[in-house]
Amino acid sequence: MTSPDSQTIELDGEYLDTITVHGREYQKYSIEHRIYFGPVDEEEAQRLDDQERVFQRIFDSRLIFPPIPRLRRVLDCGHGSGAWALGVAEQYPDCEVTGVDIAPQMSPDDVPENLWLQVDDLNRTFTFPSNHFDLVHSRLLATGIHRARWSSYIRDIVRVLKPGGWVQMIEIYFNVQSDNGSITDQHALRRWSSHYMRALEDRKDLRIGSRMRNLLTGSGLVEVDTKMIPLPLSAWSNDPRMRDIGRSNSDNIHQLLRSLALYPLIQRLHMSVENFDALVEEAQQEARDHSLKAYFPL
Ligand SMILES: C[S@@+](CC[C@H](N)C(=O)[O-])C[C@H]1O[C@@H](n2cnc3c(N)ncnc32)[C@H](O)[C@@H]1O
Repeated sequence: MTSPDSQTIELDGEYLDTITVHGREYQKYSIEHRIYFGPVDEEEAQRLDDQERVFQRIFDSRLIFPPIPRLRRVLDCGHGSGAWALGVAEQYPDCEVTGVDIAPQMSPDDVPENLWLQVDDLNRTFTFPSNHFDLVHSRLLATGIHRARWSSYIRDIVRVLKPGGWVQMIEIYFNVQSDNGSITDQHALRRWSSHYMRALEDRKDLRIGSRMRNLLTGSGLVEVDTKMIPLPLSAWSNDPRMRDIGRSNSDNIHQLLRSLALYPLIQRLHMSVENFDALVEEAQQEARDHSLKAYFPL
């Protein structure tokens, strides 16, 4: 694993160090530099792999949306467990896939020959050459990109794209929604959302999904297409496929809520562990009630 900035063994070590907080492992470097507050342990890698399967069901098994006749080079920003990058490398064996992540801990051990995983901070200016990639993929980075970095992050992405290249971005807006009024501010799901957003608002823009279209068009990209899809948290949908996705989410929602918010709520908002556990448990119970129309906008 290399980083354009990591000239020394000491710096590599810095990226490898972890700390344990309330039973979960975090990258020490990210926590100390307030870059990313999510865990980087085996449990999180498994959760991201499971989440990839949910995305595959939502997106009809499509990894790539734009029409790219010949895919030669792809960049995956914040590859996490590598699930998406691995899928692309396997599906397109002639394509060179590069993944970048601040944390190497969740990277898979065995990767195909056409996949390279690197360690770097995407908040720093990209060092990749200009006009290089056919596609840049950036998924669920709102909790990692600094709130003031978004314009220059997208400018960097555009710079490294070949003329005619594409960017594919997906963000979840973690403020639980309900368009029929069945979720109120008193529900634990909504309280979880407001605590989580407050815990990160000094560093991160969790509303970035709603600004994405303007940011992309403002950076000179043309043919910008944006879409909001509700990610159901329980089985309320009339559509059988979305109901099925909601049902499996409703059984596992505590994993998502715990892993995202454990550090932010306990370490940054100073919520007690007992109150945190009770909040997540209550939210999990609510998600099992399929009469509540709860979703995260995707
Ligand atoms: C929520 S996970 C999403 C992983 C993957 N994109 C996916 O959709 O499954 C966020 C990932 O971004 C990485 N990350 C967060 N901030 C980053 C940064 N500033 N630079 C590089 N990687 C970052 C984290 O280490 C983590 O692996």
